Amino acid sequence: MSAPPFRLRPATLDDVPSLAALEASAMTGAWSEREIADEAQSTLARLVLAEDLSGAVLGYALGWEVAGETQILRVAVGAAHRRQGLGRALLEALCAACGGGEALLEVRASNLPAITLYERAGFVITGRREGYYRDGEAALLMSRQAPTP
Ligand SMILES: CC(C)(COP(=O)(O)OP(=O)(O)OC[C@H]1O[C@@H](n2cnc3c(N)ncnc32)[C@H](O)[C@@H]1OP(=O)(O)O)[C@@H](O)C(=O)NCCC(=O)NCCS
Repeated sequence: MSAPPFRLRPATLDDVPSLAALEASAMTGAWSEREIADEAQSTLARLVLAEDLSGAVLGYALGWEVAGETQILRVAVGAAHRRQGLGRALLEALCAACGGGEALLEVRASNLPAITLYERAGFVITGRREGYYRDGEAALLMSRQAPTP
């Protein structure tokens, strides 16, 4: 099946209600509108969203550009639009928006879809933090080096 048309663009504060709705439907421990808006207003924050041709939000990615590194905080795609390449496209667009340097993230140890997405994108597991999440689940630390010029 071919992927439906979508486009990527930077997200703005006007998009926060749509991003919060997506969070509520797609994420364990979803962020509220307030939490997303707080993140979006940081000078370090970079946000990219995927929308269909009618402007409906299908997914988004949020990270920080810190000292030339990308710290990935969120990659989320609505359940009806998964396995069509959006997660990978959002991940790469976020890394590019953060300058394309080394990228780092934490992911729940049980989150096989996300771990597989990151491994397919060239990330490797570099560590594990027991009890990292509020519910006691461990986090895997993953990173990807900047491409060599
Ligand atoms: C993780 C997530 C963002 C992946 O988004 P997606 O749009 O489905 O990802 P893609 O279609 O780009 O998948 C790229 C590759 O990742 C891997 N992958 C993605 N979902 C997978 C799954 N459920 N099981 C196994 N591998 C999976 C596959 O290798 C896939 O390539 P393929 O479809 O050619 O086999 C999505 O499942 C999601 O939003 N999950 C809930 C939010 C979340 O946990 N985010 C990560 C932590 S912030």
